[in-house]
Amino acid sequence: MTQDEFKQQVAHAALKHVRDGVIGVGSGSTVNFFIDALATIKGRIDGAVVASEASAARLRKHGIQILELNNVSELPLYVDGADEVTEHLYMIKGGGGALTREKIVAAVARKFVCICDASKLVSVLGKYPLPLEVIPMARSYVGREMLKRGAQPELRANFKTDNGNLILDCRGLTIVDPPRLEAELNQIAGVVTNGLFARRPADVLLLAEPGGVRAIAAKR
Ligand code: A5P
Repeated sequence: MTQDEFKQQVAHAALKHVRDGVIGVGSGSTVNFFIDALATIKGRIDGAVVASEASAARLRKHGIQILELNNVSELPLYVDGADEVTEHLYMIKGGGGALTREKIVAAVARKFVCICDASKLVSVLGKYPLPLEVIPMARSYVGREMLKRGAQPELRANFKTDNGNLILDCRGLTIVDPPRLEAELNQIAGVVTNGLFARRPADVLLLAEPGGVRAIAAKR
């Protein structure tokens, strides 16, 4: 199977978590397959809140209504991908630059289902560069702060987030305590969000492997 076929398979497997009402939808190529799968059962949902403009456009194309998060009090489910994920369901996200909105929607959701192909499962986070969404005027300062922490920050070229900010991709971090580092990086002035999702990890990981889709539930 190709990587896209694995992504498609895991996206379909997530459909069984969908309940009536509003659904939270993340972003990325795996989520694009989920959106296409969701369209086949769109009559069962009232609409979606989304983490990126790109996902909103794809959902609208399928005739699925986009709702504003501020008008939604209950969000039973959020489905999103990840760039790296551990067996503890801690993640690095933000490869597509939508990390801030993803973190907000994940915070509201009762259940976070992460959908990935097996290449995303790691024992320690940090091989994938950790993205930081940064207010433009703080770019150099945040870069220096990350250098002090042993990272090599790199400004994502020709990229602006949906919130009008910049992304610094930080290589070279070995992330032994993801919840602690997530909290620490959020304290740097000018950082809007960092791409560690550890203080609000996923509740269920669906992982597409050669033998089929494996479900890993959070041990909490
Ligand atoms: C978007 O900002 C990310 O957090 C995505 O969830 C992540 O990059 C996974 O994307 P793919 O499904 O395209 O690998």
